Amino acid sequence: MELALYSPGLGYYAAGATKLGHAGDFTTAPEMTPLFGHAAAKQVAAILAATEGRQVLELGAGTGALAASLLAGLEAASSLPSHYLILEPSPDLRERQRATLATQAPHHAAVVEWIDTLPASVDGAVIANEVLDAIPTHVVRRRQGAFFERGVAIAPEASPLHHGFVWDERPAPARLAALAQSRFPEVDDYVSELNPAAEALVEHLGRRLDSGAALFIDYGFPAHEYYHPQRAAGTLMCHYRHRAHDDPFVYPGLTDITAHVNFSAMASAGKRAGLEVGGFVAQAPFLLGCDLLEGLAAVGPPESVPYIKAASQVQKLLSPAEMGELFKVLALSRSPGIAWPGFALADRRHRL
Ligand SMILES: C[S@@+](CC[C@H](N)C(=O)[O-])C[C@H]1O[C@@H](n2cnc3c(N)ncnc32)[C@H](O)[C@@H]1O
Repeated sequence: MELALYSPGLGYYAAGATKLGHAGDFTTAPEMTPLFGHAAAKQVAAILAATEGRQVLELGAGTGALAASLLAGLEAASSLPSHYLILEPSPDLRERQRATLATQAPHHAAVVEWIDTLPASVDGAVIANEVLDAIPTHVVRRRQGAFFERGVAIAPEASPLHHGFVWDERPAPARLAALAQSRFPEVDDYVSELNPAAEALVEHLGRRLDSGAALFIDYGFPAHEYYHPQRAAGTLMCHYRHRAHDDPFVYPGLTDITAHVNFSAMASAGKRAGLEVGGFVAQAPFLLGCDLLEGLAAVGPPESVPYIKAASQVQKLLSPAEMGELFKVLALSRSPGIAWPGFALADRRHRL
């Protein structure tokens, strides 16, 4: 997964393919409509109001669509940040972000800065939309009481469609086996994912968050749903030209590979760094609490074409059959006294 997504010049996120948006392989919420970023701005503004530094740090900014709409929303709320830092490992996507911001938010150029590593300290709001699902994961199988890590082998007899790649297994290293033992249900022939790298990212980031809060938005579940006995084939998923499939050996480097996020593990990683869980809700109540419908109403009269288009995008963001329920928002905070409009309509912290 690491090589297929990130190897320089060849990996999905490190080579020139279009990736996000209508002409690419998948469309994220901020790509779909700026109303997502305008709504998220309400929660980000509330976090900034509780900090002195008023920085925003966005992880994995994709095409820059969220940065542009979030800055517009913060400007409308008279709550612009002192800095808008973007940590983006893909040089290709950095260029797209620069181009997006140059056309959509040229007057904010002075506050936007690209960084290569996590800053030593952050005083403000961190936001990461669909980033944790893109962090390379381990796939582990429980079979006859033992744990095996799934890996990739080359088999001459494998189909040309798979470039000679096949799944192979070896005994899981002790650390991974122990983690699987503590999380997987007692079901034989059970495959799922463990993502210590994503947990480490959240923990490292948490340690550097001096004050403020981080918002992680992604598809995923709390642990008891993630490792449900019936989810016996895991959550590894691929996207190629708006089709989802589960075969990572087809078009490696041209296909996005992801796994759902175990939000309980991310919350625990935050707690190890001394953070508190400020909130955990599905995307629909988060966006409703952040006035998404008020944003929609401001698009134009209900019979106008822009409104009708925006209403169908909002429906995708909110519908439980689309992104409203599968996507969750986790807030990890350092500061007391933050207002949580996005978490006011529902509270699923007890399910973590
Ligand atoms: C699925 S895209 C989401 C893009 C964007 N946030 C959006 O919602 O449209 C995943 C993004 O995460 C970035 N990414 C991957 N690993 C990362 C890491 N360790 N730190 C920060 N960003 C990362 C990718 O390069 C890409 O920009």
